[in-house]
Amino acid sequence: MDHKLISRRDIEFLLFEWLDVVSLCDRPRYADHSRETYAGALDTAERIAAEHFLPHRRKSDVVEPEFDGERVHLIPEVQAAWNAFAESGLLAAEQDYDYGGMQLPSVVDKACFAYVLAANVGSAGYPLLTAANANLLLAHGIEIEHACEKSCACTTCHVIVREGFGTLTPSTEDEDDLLDRAWGLTPLSRLSCQAIVDAAPLVIEIPRYTINYAKEKH
Ligand code: FES
Repeated sequence: MDHKLISRRDIEFLLFEWLDVVSLCDRPRYADHSRETYAGALDTAERIAAEHFLPHRRKSDVVEPEFDGERVHLIPEVQAAWNAFAESGLLAAEQDYDYGGMQLPSVVDKACFAYVLAANVGSAGYPLLTAANANLLLAHGIEIEHACEKSCACTTCHVIVREGFGTLTPSTEDEDDLLDRAWGLTPLSRLSCQAIVDAAPLVIEIPRYTINYAKEKH
């Protein structure tokens, strides 16, 4: 790669020689991991940072988010970068396998995220806040049902955003099409797996009914 985000040698020195993260693989939680899986996650993070976050680093500074009274508008590259990061699995890298995560040690996850921060600190805020909100929801035991692994292919994660609706990223055509089938649709409805939140506080109502056949801890 011809970019200069962070020295890979420095990252490897910190993780493998100084912190000896491979020794964590002796613990049951990280037993599936190895130096190779850690290196694979770092490779993925470096590639996504370079290909999806770095190119719009200047544009995202120059073209600031705009609030039109109802919605916040961002340059489309931010959503594309968020999608690439989420699709790689890095968004839930630290989470349990049961939650669709990779159970990566936190220190390795942070090293991966350092590439994204180095590439574009502004756009890095969106996956950072999404992960932080997921942690908050999990810590407080709020379960939202799903039936499609959060891939925008069902309506089970339908929520009503009573306050803060305008601070979410705009819905896509696919999300709007699915929402048309949701039980109890309102003008403030969103699919929670698709809406990207920012730092603004939200008030969320989980509808009384959802279209799902099973309940999982997601
Ligand atoms: S979980 Fe299926 S659309 Fe959100």
